[in-house]
Amino acid sequence: MLSLFRAGWLVLSASIVHASLQIVPGATLTATNTGTHMQAHGAGVIVENGVYYIIGEDHTNGSAFQNINCYSSTDLVSWTYVGALLSQTTTAGDLGPNRVVERPKVIYNSSTKKYVLWMHIDDSSYAEAKVGVATGDTVCGKYSYLGSWQPLGYQSRDIGLFQDDDGSAYLLTEDRVNGLRIDSLTADYLNVSSATALLADYEAPAIVKRNGYYFLFASHLTGWDANDNEYVYATNLSGPWSSWTTFATVGSDTYESQTNYILPVSSDLIMYMGDRWVSTDLAASTYVWLPLTFSGTTTVTIANEVNWIPNVATGGNWTTGPSETWPEGESATLTDGATVVSCSGCSGSEAAGYIGGPSGGTVTFSNVQSGASTKTTIRLKYENGDGTSRFANVSCNGVEQNIAFLPTTNGYTPGSSVVTCALTSGTANTIVITQTDGTYGPDIDRIMVPLS
Ligand SMILES: *[C@@H]1O[C@H](CO)[C@@H](O)[C@H](O)[C@H]1NC(C)=O
Ligand SMILES: *[C@@H]1O[C@H](CO)[C@@H](O)[C@H](O)[C@H]1NC(C)=O
Ligand SMILES: *[C@@H]1O[C@H](CO)[C@@H](O)[C@H](O)[C@H]1NC(C)=O
Ligand SMILES: *[C@@H]1O[C@H](CO)[C@@H](O)[C@H](O)[C@H]1NC(C)=O
Ligand SMILES: *[C@@H]1O[C@H](CO)[C@@H](O)[C@H](O)[C@H]1NC(C)=O
Ligand SMILES: *[C@@H]1O[C@H](CO)[C@@H](O)[C@H](O)[C@H]1NC(C)=O
Repeated sequence: MLSLFRAGWLVLSASIVHASLQIVPGATLTATNTGTHMQAHGAGVIVENGVYYIIGEDHTNGSAFQNINCYSSTDLVSWTYVGALLSQTTTAGDLGPNRVVERPKVIYNSSTKKYVLWMHIDDSSYAEAKVGVATGDTVCGKYSYLGSWQPLGYQSRDIGLFQDDDGSAYLLTEDRVNGLRIDSLTADYLNVSSATALLADYEAPAIVKRNGYYFLFASHLTGWDANDNEYVYATNLSGPWSSWTTFATVGSDTYESQTNYILPVSSDLIMYMGDRWVSTDLAASTYVWLPLTFSGTTTVTIANEVNWIPNVATGGNWTTGPSETWPEGESATLTDGATVVSCSGCSGSEAAGYIGGPSGGTVTFSNVQSGASTKTTIRLKYENGDGTSRFANVSCNGVEQNIAFLPTTNGYTPGSSVVTCALTSGTANTIVITQTDGTYGPDIDRIMVPLS
C-alpha cells in the first residue's frame, strides 16, 4: 500500500514540476477552437481574473479591415477564439469596405465600467491619419464605435495606450510631421485632453512601467519591414526621456519583428510582443514573443529563443526550452500513401510527404520518449510550399486536434507549428499526423518532443 501511494505521489509531483508549455516565436499558432492560425496582429493584451485576452487585427482576407478579434488564454501558450469586438460594416464609413483599422488597444475604466478600445483609423492610402474609439461592456463582447478624429488636431497613425497605476491613461501616437506623442486621456478615457510629451519620430509604441521607471519601446519607420527597435526610459511621462537605445541584437531587426505590446506577467516576467509581418500575406504574419531582461534599473535587453517556458501558473519567471528528442518524419511509420520525400532544408534532407490527400496518408511516431507525465508543447517542423495554410489532424495518445501549417514560401523553412500534447512518462507515447478531408497536409521533417 505504501509503495502504491508513493508511486502515485511521484507521478503527481512530476506533472507539476515538469510542466513545459512553450512559447515558440515565429511558429504557426493554431487557436484551440478554430483550427487556423491566430488572427490577432498588431495586438494589445488586457488581463482579467487571471485570463489574458489578446485583441488584434484579423487579416484572414488581406490587409483591409475585417475584424478586431479577441482570443483568451490562461497560460500564454494555448489561445481560444472568443469573438470580434468590431467587424466590417457593409456600408461605407470608418469600418466599411477597404478601410484601415490597426493596432487596437483596450483599457478598462473601473468607474464607468467600460472597456475602451483605441485604434488607428485610415483610408487605404493612409491619408486620413486618425484615431478611433469604441466602448464595450464586456472585454470580448461587441463594442460600440464612437467615431474618429485627429487627436489635438495632429496626424495619428500607429498608436499605443498606457494606463498608469493612479488610473490616469495616455495615448501614444505617431505624428509624422512632429514625432511620437504622448497625450493624456480624459478621465473617462474617451478622448485626449492635453499633450504630455513629444519624442523623435518612432512608430509601434508601447510603454511598460517597472520600479518607478517608464520604458517606451518603438520601431523606426520602415513600413512592413522589420528594423532594430529601440527604447527610452524616464521617471515621469513628461520627461526628460533618455536617449534611444537598442534592446535586441543589433542587425537582427529585433529578431525580425516590430513591437506591438509589452506585457507585464509578473515581477520576474515582462514579455516583449512583436509582429513578424509577412507583407505579401498579412494573415501569415507570426508572433515573436520573448522575455525582457532588466539589468540594473534602466538597461533592457532581449535574447532570441527558439522556445521558452512562461511559468504563468506558478506566478513566476521563465525558463529556456527543455531538452528534447527529435524523431524524424522519414524514419516514422508511413502508411496510406505517405512516403519519404526529399527536402533540401530538412534535417537529413528528407521528410514524410503525401500526408492526407485522396488516400489519407499517415505518419505515425511510435515509442516517443518523455521523462514526465505532463502536458507539453511539441514543435512540428514542416514544409508547405503552397501559398496558403495546409492542415493536419495531430493525434497525441489518441487525442485529436486540427493544426494549421502556414506557407513556408516566405523564407522561414522548415517552418514550426506547435501542438499541446499530454504525454506519459516513458516510451508508450504515439503521435499520429494525418488528414482525412482529401487535402494534403504539410511534409513533416521531424517533431521536437520535450524530455522533461
Ligand atoms: C474571407 O472571405 C471569405 C470569402 O469571401 C468569407 O466567406 C469570409 O467570411 C471572410 N473572412 C473574414 C474574416 O473576413
Ligand atoms: C474612469 O472614469 C471616471 C469617470 O470619468 C474617472 O473619474 C476615473 O478616474 C477613470 N479611471 C478609472 C481607473 O476608473
Ligand atoms: C474628441 O475631441 C475631438 C476634438 O477635441 C472631437 O472632435 C471628438 O468628437 C471627440 N471625440 C469624442 C468621442 O468625444
Ligand atoms: C511630471 O512632470 C510634470 C511636468 O513637469 C509635473 O507637473 C508632474 O508633477 C510630474 N509628476 C511627478 C509624479 O513627478
Ligand atoms: C526564476 O526564479 C527563481 C526563484 O526566484 C530564481 O532562482 C531564478 O534565477 C529565476 N530564473 C530566471 C531565468 O529568471
Ligand atoms: C480530424 O478532425 C476532425 C475534426 O475535429 C474529426 O472529426 C476527425 O475525426 C479527426 N480525425 C481524423 C483521423 O481525421
